[in-house]
Amino acid sequence: MTKLISVAALAAALASPCAAAAQESAQVAQGKALYGQFCTQCHGADGKRGEGYQTPIWGPGSLIAKFETAQGLFEYHQMLMPFNDPSLMTDEQKWAVVAYVLANHGAIKPADTLSPANAPSIAIKAPQAAAPAPGSAPAQTTVAAATAPMLDNSAGERSWAKCRACHQVGPTARNGVGPHLNGLFGRVAGSVEGYAYSPANKASGLSWDNASFARYIQDPRGAMPGTKMVFAGIKNEQEIRDLAAFLKQYAADGKQGQ
Ligand code: HEC
Ligand code: HEC
Repeated sequence: MTKLISVAALAAALASPCAAAAQESAQVAQGKALYGQFCTQCHGADGKRGEGYQTPIWGPGSLIAKFETAQGLFEYHQMLMPFNDPSLMTDEQKWAVVAYVLANHGAIKPADTLSPANAPSIAIKAPQAAAPAPGSAPAQTTVAAATAPMLDNSAGERSWAKCRACHQVGPTARNGVGPHLNGLFGRVAGSVEGYAYSPANKASGLSWDNASFARYIQDPRGAMPGTKMVFAGIKNEQEIRDLAAFLKQYAADGKQGQ
């Protein structure tokens, strides 16, 4: 009989002559592959920057400590990552990618494996920039983690996090992957200057009001077959109302309130 070698171990051995790589748990190795597939487009291969988000997601400069524990980071992924559609990944895959992120951050060892049992007790410390004075850094971390809200405070703003990778609002908003959404309500679909809409959007004849917005956000492709907005949709009606309220704050010039 030929010797049986685990595929993961073999792949790790072939991929890198470095002994540390061979010590990666199967979960971290899986997370690395998934990260390449689902996350690099927005966060870069090094977790520092991509098309979608300019803040590092691990290591110096990242805000990862606000999730406090591996469990917190996993729950964030259940809710929001990957951004274009959190349902693209199974829970098992999310555990793997969270393990990979935490291994890069140094919160776990590459050989470790995360599970619902150990995740609540695995703390995520603030990233080390230069060597911090021993003792002082962890204390500050605890204070920051306790006072900083985990995500945005208002419901609509929190939901807006699902749109921000592709859309902007505010006085400096520009078109990105999608058109800017200033002054959306009352606007005719497909009417933002300089944005290359799909023919489906331009021909829809819609104008954006509560009803057309809700239908589109619930199921973009169902409501507008051929739209190029790649977004799974939000089913929760309260969340859609919160989101609409958030967007209505922004007038056509991007100024807030009136
Ligand atoms: C379509 C773009 C996009 C994709 C794909 C994506 N992200 Fe994100 N990610 C974002 C944006 C935008 C934010 C900021 C969201 C916020 O402020 O809540 C973010 C925030 C995060 C954060 C929190 C960081 C912080 O500074 O608050 C983590 C961790 C993260 N992403 C991990 C991942 C992982 C892991 C994947 C792959 C499974 C992934 N993301 C896929 C766009 C994306
Ligand atoms: C992955 C990128 C992406 C995400 C995430 C995304 N959108 Fe879009 N959105 C687009 C694109 C691309 C278009 C242009 C669609 C077309 O031309 O068919 C668009 C179009 C729209 C339009 C029509 C605007 C107009 O001028 O006619 C609205 C409204 C909209 N998006 C709202 C949202 C909201 C609200 C969210 C968050 C819940 C969101 N989008 C998330 C990419 C995205």
